Amino acid sequence: MIQLPAAPALTVPSAVVKTSYLVGEQADMKHRGSDAQWLSAASLDFDAFVAERTGVRERWGVPSELFWFTSGEYYIGSLVIRHELTDDEGGGHIGYHVVYPWQNQGHATRMLGDALVRCAALGIDRALLTVAPDNAASIAVVRRNGGVEEGGLNSEGELQFWIDTSVA
Ligand SMILES: CC(C)(COP(=O)(O)OP(=O)(O)OC[C@H]1O[C@@H](n2cnc3c(N)ncnc32)[C@H](O)[C@@H]1OP(=O)(O)O)[C@@H](O)C(=O)NCCC(=O)NCCS
Repeated sequence: MIQLPAAPALTVPSAVVKTSYLVGEQADMKHRGSDAQWLSAASLDFDAFVAERTGVRERWGVPSELFWFTSGEYYIGSLVIRHELTDDEGGGHIGYHVVYPWQNQGHATRMLGDALVRCAALGIDRALLTVAPDNAASIAVVRRNGGVEEGGLNSEGELQFWIDTSVA
């Protein structure tokens, strides 16, 4: 297995991880059987790709911030924090993925833990996470970070978990 140079951390998007990002996302897209066409533009102008993803931006109608989970030149996954919930609360406060080559090594669990610290700093005392009922891996990640299921399925058919960020 690859030895990471340091414990991974949430970082702002950066060209430092360009190769690892492109290869990792392409591997993940192929594994999921998803269209990887969006990587074409990213590979041609990665600086522009990064610039479009940096800072607090209006996405889904609410201020949101994107982070990459990285160690040195290695890109492991992505995470978004919505500073406010959308009107229907779809997607919750935090969304994330770990690219296929790095899955099942505890990265999502640690990445969500780091995000909860950031949520607490933003004044989000209780973070909402929404997860498809058949996504056993993500349910495990949320539960290990203190997620408590509450409120039944939302309008998108996803389970709703609340996490007290003060214990993060
Ligand atoms: C969900 C996801 C983020 C998990 O990332 P990860 O880095 O592999 O997560 P971790 O290694 O921290 O923990 C995964 C846990 O789920 C378990 N798991 C993995 N696949 C599983 C499966 N098919 N069924 C049951 N449990 C599973 C692992 O065994 C692990 O638990 P353990 O440590 O007790 O053994 C990753 O699979 C992913 O990106 N999936 C696609 C996008 C997605 O679903 N995002 C979340 C949307 S809410």
